[in-house]
Amino acid sequence: MSAASGPDWILECSHCDSRRGPEGLPTVCDVCGLPWLVRYPDRVPTLVDRAELRRRHGMWRFRPFLPLLPDEQPITLGEGDTPLLRAPRTGARLGLADLWIKDEGTNPTGSFKARGLSAAITRAVAAGADRFVLPTAGNAGVAAAAYGARAGALVRVYAPSTTPRTILAQMLVYGADLVLLDGHIGDCGKAARAYAAESGAVDLSTLREPYRIEGKKTLGLELALQLGWTLPAAIIYPTGGGTGLIGMWKAFLELREAGWVQGELPRMYTVQSSGCAPVVLAFESGADECAPWPDPWTVASGLRVPGPLGGRLMLRILRETGGGAVAVDDPDLEREAREGTREEGVDLSPEGGAALAAAGALRASGVLTPEDRVVAFNTGAGWLYRDPGDLPPV
Ligand SMILES: Cc1ncc(COP(=O)(O)O)c(C=O)c1O
Repeated sequence: MSAASGPDWILECSHCDSRRGPEGLPTVCDVCGLPWLVRYPDRVPTLVDRAELRRRHGMWRFRPFLPLLPDEQPITLGEGDTPLLRAPRTGARLGLADLWIKDEGTNPTGSFKARGLSAAITRAVAAGADRFVLPTAGNAGVAAAAYGARAGALVRVYAPSTTPRTILAQMLVYGADLVLLDGHIGDCGKAARAYAAESGAVDLSTLREPYRIEGKKTLGLELALQLGWTLPAAIIYPTGGGTGLIGMWKAFLELREAGWVQGELPRMYTVQSSGCAPVVLAFESGADECAPWPDPWTVASGLRVPGPLGGRLMLRILRETGGGAVAVDDPDLEREAREGTREEGVDLSPEGGAALAAAGALRASGVLTPEDRVVAFNTGAGWLYRDPGDLPPV
């Protein structure tokens, strides 16, 4: 494979039978409007690749699974290689003897969004893009701003005016052209699409281009590597648009296909706030797609996604893996973030607090057993949610 021979992957619709090549700047399936998924029909990652990637660092060590040609350089800030930490005290309190936290807050820009935006901006720049637009619930805007700066590109971000101030300030620090709107990420999405149409900027919205998922896939690849090519019994993932959930599921399938892991996939659990829980509602009612959630609100701003485009696919994944969906109240997720941070020394975001609150709820209802190996994702750093005025007095 070489750059001269072009990309060796194709795009398959996540819902219907459509396929297309990777040329240009793909958006969504032109037949059904749902997200594309990347497939690599000619790649067979081998055990030699597996030994080799131990010697490399960061998320791009997983190149045999990623949309990058051998002579291409990614746009990177050193994302990935985040700690997978045992959580013995929180685990003892919640009744889970084998609880782990994957701390994505240590990524450049402070959240797991770094992975997806590194991959998406790498591919878009390779296709000639130099201007981007993104609607965000918060952290994706910071990552887009930073990776845009790294690529020397312009980035327009639309964010709700209620987004935590420190997150908004970080977007400005990296040089984004930030527009605040009264509304939620869905309203920001409409504005972003209008701006993309009028300016020619590439729209990086969740699942409206296929490569952010590929970056998020490295969450699952890295987890398997850190667990010695085994997978946990259960994964608890704070869910908004669903890129992390879909990315990890895709990673586990590809690892199994390569023969690098065996057996059942982890049971995947979505956690949302009870103030915005479209996936939980659809899961519980047996629906196969999410209805838009009216008046969404939660302090966990990354979970304030009332109508996720990837709803259908997420519901399929939760059901196929034997997992589920849990809603937790804001006071509970905030309390878990506070307690977990003190117990384990990990700076938990409200979304990370939600993952721990869900772990406790799933244990209390008997869905998780005390011995299950459970990985809860702290998808972002807690400091991003603190205003200078909210800091404890010193
Ligand atoms: C900290 C945090 N956790 C979770 C999410 C939800 O991620 P996804 O949209 O991939 O479901 C977000 C999205 O903004 C986030 O910022």
